[in-house]
Amino acid sequence: MVTISVIGTGYLGATHAAGMAELGFDVIGVDTDPVKIRALAGGEVPFHEPGLPELLRRHVQTGRLRFTTSMAQAAAEADLHFVCVGTPQSLTGAADLSAVHAVIAELAPLLRRNALVVGKSTVPVGTAEQLTRRIASLIQPGIAVEVAWNPEFLREGHAVHDTLHPNRLVFGCAGPSAEWLLREVYARPIADGVPVVVTDLATAELVKVSANAFLATKISFINAMAELCEAAGADVLTLARALGHDERIGAQFLGAGLGYGGGCLPKDVRALIARADELGSGESVAFLRGVEEINQRRRDRIVAEALEVLRGGPGWRAGRVAVLGAAFKPHSDDVRDSPALEVAQRLHRAGALVTVYDPVAAVRARSVAPQLRYAANPHVACRKADVVLHLTEWPEFGSLDPVRLRAIVRNPVLIDARNTLDAARWLAAGWEFRRPGTVLPL
Ligand code: UGA
Repeated sequence: MVTISVIGTGYLGATHAAGMAELGFDVIGVDTDPVKIRALAGGEVPFHEPGLPELLRRHVQTGRLRFTTSMAQAAAEADLHFVCVGTPQSLTGAADLSAVHAVIAELAPLLRRNALVVGKSTVPVGTAEQLTRRIASLIQPGIAVEVAWNPEFLREGHAVHDTLHPNRLVFGCAGPSAEWLLREVYARPIADGVPVVVTDLATAELVKVSANAFLATKISFINAMAELCEAAGADVLTLARALGHDERIGAQFLGAGLGYGGGCLPKDVRALIARADELGSGESVAFLRGVEEINQRRRDRIVAEALEVLRGGPGWRAGRVAVLGAAFKPHSDDVRDSPALEVAQRLHRAGALVTVYDPVAAVRARSVAPQLRYAANPHVACRKADVVLHLTEWPEFGSLDPVRLRAIVRNPVLIDARNTLDAARWLAAGWEFRRPGTVLPL
């Protein structure tokens, strides 16, 4: 049986390493950060991902999952190396590939046996081919190292499920041996009926970014309809429900609201635009600029709505804003490009006193936005608030008691930017309930 190394142990790598151990492989997780490696080796996951700590601990205990900072150990022991390092956005909007290149520069000269290097990081199309040439120039004579691309489609908050039960597997391969090995690695999901798409390197790279660009487009489409609904006095929630019944459209990712954020969709859209420009094909994805603009307007819309409420109240400059949610989406503590946190920071800059509550993301939010106040529970956050903003749809916000909260705030105005709260309950408790682009119950 092959031994696997997973290089880069962030959200993607840590989950993938645990998933591979669950599939029965011996796995070595590698990272340059010794603090992260110590935590993972001790069975601690340094971020919030439901179900992952249990899976990780189980396989640290079985001994199938080990962690190291030594690339030499990974090179010596593993037959297959999954590259899972981050590809953040650079200043130009293009993906910053320095971590990927650093991995290859360190790993390739250390290899002493034939190996398959499998990219999982999201990269601009053409990267795998570039890495293939780079590896060929760095390896010792007499060994064969192939590159394959196996993009990952897991969602944060559902990462364990998505890793063990992917909806498809994409293998970008330059030759038959890579496909053979990847089929062996994923034999269990394949036996369970998960469809496999085998293709070339470039197509596999593009599948990943185009999937995210499509999802972003779907979200911006429904948010554009929300703008139209607002202008026309129509209801985007009903519209989305009606559209979703058409199987060709599908109901998922038609959740109008504050728009998309996180470490993937925003940067992947920008990186695709940048790469298409480089390839002289900028026109083909020109519409994605519109997708981004619509997404940004959602944040502007909620900031404007909150300022309007504050300005209508007494002494608005010292107005108090309670923000429910800081994570870019529920079930995650990730605040990268979080719409919620951007809205909170912009209101703070406008002079409001902003207090944020998030069930798990407060620690990360505080490190990014230390100027905001953070409360230990929603009731403290809402104390004497002039406006309450619902910015991340954590399930616990759905069970807040509007009657109890009404007694705590100064001004019972709630803006539901995620369109998931039960308007009737809040209205019945005497709240002014605002939800742009929707029609409220009478
Ligand atoms: C996304 C993709 O869904 C994954 O398939 C992909 O593997 C991952 O990026 C990645 O590239 O690693 P993720 O960033 O975890 O996953 O989050 P999503 O569930 O896609 O949500 C992204 C954003 O869109 C969130 O801010 C969410 O609130 C927003 N969203 C989602 C909406 O505004 N409306 C919707 O209907 C759905």
